[in-house]
Amino acid sequence: DAALPRLTVIGTGYLGATHAICMASLGYEVVGLDVDANKIKKLQSGEVPFFEPGLPELLAKTMESGRLRFTTSYEEAAAHGDVHFICVGTPQQPGSDACDLTYVDAAVRGLAAHLTRRCLVVGKSTVPVGTSARLSDMLRELAPAGDEVELAWNPEFLREGFAVDDTLRPDRLVFGVASDWARDRLHEAFRPILDLGTPTVVTDLPTAELVKVAANSFLATKISYINAMAEICEATGADVRDLAKALAYDDRIGGRFLQPGLGFGGGCLPKDIRAFAHRAEEIGVGQAVSFLREVDAINRRRRSRTIDLVRELLGGQLDGKRIACLGAAFKPNSDDIRDAPALDVARTMHGLGANVRVYDPAALDNARRAYPELRYGTSALDVAQDADVVVLLTEWAEFREIQPSALAQVVRNRRIVDGRHALDAEAWRAEGWEYRALGSP
Ligand code: UDX
Repeated sequence: DAALPRLTVIGTGYLGATHAICMASLGYEVVGLDVDANKIKKLQSGEVPFFEPGLPELLAKTMESGRLRFTTSYEEAAAHGDVHFICVGTPQQPGSDACDLTYVDAAVRGLAAHLTRRCLVVGKSTVPVGTSARLSDMLRELAPAGDEVELAWNPEFLREGFAVDDTLRPDRLVFGVASDWARDRLHEAFRPILDLGTPTVVTDLPTAELVKVAANSFLATKISYINAMAEICEATGADVRDLAKALAYDDRIGGRFLQPGLGFGGGCLPKDIRAFAHRAEEIGVGQAVSFLREVDAINRRRRSRTIDLVRELLGGQLDGKRIACLGAAFKPNSDDIRDAPALDVARTMHGLGANVRVYDPAALDNARRAYPELRYGTSALDVAQDADVVVLLTEWAEFREIQPSALAQVVRNRRIVDGRHALDAEAWRAEGWEYRALGSP
């Protein structure tokens, strides 16, 4: 369709690859760019370089359509695109809470040098508020087309494991724009999604930047809230599971993101709340979000409390004990181990002298690469062989389906810590297991 704007996607990591593939599936001509030639080679040959249900199939389909191609050349990307999406990562800076904008800056600089006609550059990466103002200046200064190049902001809310659906059928679209022209270009670039009746908020750039970190801070706070209640339950003999259930019936509160357990991890929530607190301090409004420091602290305590529970169950000693860890990914249906609570717990117990073996349905290769000092197994039954205790750390569906009687045959002692409230306590206890979960008596 000649009327459709041509799109480029800079950065083909998790967010960018998903965005590029999904937009091509909607009928747009898309060029995906990454500076990592390896990644580009993989995508070009039809391989998605990470685990995401449904994405490999969609990539195969769109590659066949001829509407999607990949490159490492900014020149090629700039020549192609009417709308350029910036989708590079903004990780936490080592040794600081601030987020690292090196990749965003490099992407804008790399692209800008070749922008010789009117076009829209759209930031999707999660950035500290105020970044877009700086990037606008950079574009104006570096692009040969100067003022003809405009910046807009369109935060991305996709969840790993649901990335395709979240991209094609998002809860809402947020367009941060500085002109009607930019708004109209975004409407063209998202037409099929807008036609679904997707709610849309058109706003200024700083608001659009903030929406993303405000949303993730709220979600993180909700999780830490219920985990804080779990701490109270632990001290009082109350049961956080029933507490959460009762809270959830109030639809002003709602049950989602109210699962108590080992807490949140991943490439977004932990670093986003830290970067937000840091940014707020930088601009002199640190007090407004100082509670996020507490949200982070509650979340970290979940990990040490889980280890305490394991220790308690083992009679006070981890040293020399055989511990089966079920799960490594930061959440189920993902192979992502960034800031994964599961691996943090496994590594700490290993460091305390325990004989730890880890199994995960998808994240084993990543875990092995990052933490070669740990031992790994091929199944839950495999790592549970002769275990003194089994610890469920990521709530994969296949762990919920484990028969307590089957696991009982291979372990040395029937002890299980359910770090995610994922199992049916009664069923395990009925098979003679000592079952423990944080926040439940
Ligand atoms: C998150 C946001 O949900 C998404 O909107 C944003 O774009 C990116 O960050 P994601 O990192 O994929 O997405 O993970 P999410 O499903 O939000 O889970 C985050 C963490 O919270 C996981 O470690 C999960 O185990 C934990 N969690 C989630 C809980 O501990 N309890 C809950 O009730 C929900």
